[in-house]
Amino acid sequence: MEKFLGARGVSHGKKAYKEHSKARTGNQFQRVCSLIDAPVKATNIVWHHAQVTGTQREALLNQRGGTIWLTGLPSSGKSTTAYALELELFKRGFPAYVLDGDNVRHGLNKDLGFSSVDRAENIRRVAETAKLFADAGMVVITSFISPYRVERDFARRIHLAAGFRFLEVHIDTPVEVCEGRDPKGHYAKARAGILKGFTGVDDPYEAPLCPELVCRTAEISTREIVFRIIECMAKEGFWRDEVGPLALGRGLR
Ligand code: ADX
Repeated sequence: MEKFLGARGVSHGKKAYKEHSKARTGNQFQRVCSLIDAPVKATNIVWHHAQVTGTQREALLNQRGGTIWLTGLPSSGKSTTAYALELELFKRGFPAYVLDGDNVRHGLNKDLGFSSVDRAENIRRVAETAKLFADAGMVVITSFISPYRVERDFARRIHLAAGFRFLEVHIDTPVEVCEGRDPKGHYAKARAGILKGFTGVDDPYEAPLCPELVCRTAEISTREIVFRIIECMAKEGFWRDEVGPLALGRGLR
């Protein structure tokens, strides 16, 4: 297993990952390791190194690459938050890009359904895609239910191991509120038994045990949530203090 890099780029190793994941059971830890250690099927492949360094990319973009991983129940407000955050960053001159569950399932992941195996593969591919974006110096905002801790841990681990920032944000909205919103009518269909295996109704959602941020959309506005995420990003070193969106004159609030 490769070295684990802590949130601030400090190399630790397996022990530190275990430390971060104290709340996770040994079994879960083993499952994350097996995802990471899964054999590469292709043979005769050789890593080709770029001529542009990560530091050069980050200097050009005035930011450091990384992923804001939004997780929560259907209709909890993930996509609303994701696109509002993207817009806020964009307006201030920081490129970001949203990978959204429904959208990604129209293309890259259109061969996947909602069985636990397919959901796991959905998240594995998204985690790897987000990591590529992070390598390109982008801020990636992912908006997926991502119901299982193991796959979210996998996403975190591959980012940190490569030295990219990763923030897990739990969009924590009670299921009754999500069901009351139900903009796509999915909860109604699931309750009527027409839609099977719907997260929050007859499929499980494993809430994060130690996310960087918990956002309660039933209690605070989208705007306030966006500010809190940006504050958290600033603390995690996405920008140098003097150029980031919190720098004087950028008028965040
Ligand atoms: S995940 O569980 O694999 O992370 P993802 O975020 O990609 O899910 O996709 C969720 C979207 O798929 C929901 O916003 C909803 O529109 C749609 N959807 C269709 N069937 C289901 C289902 N059985 N459970 C949850 N979402 C579903």
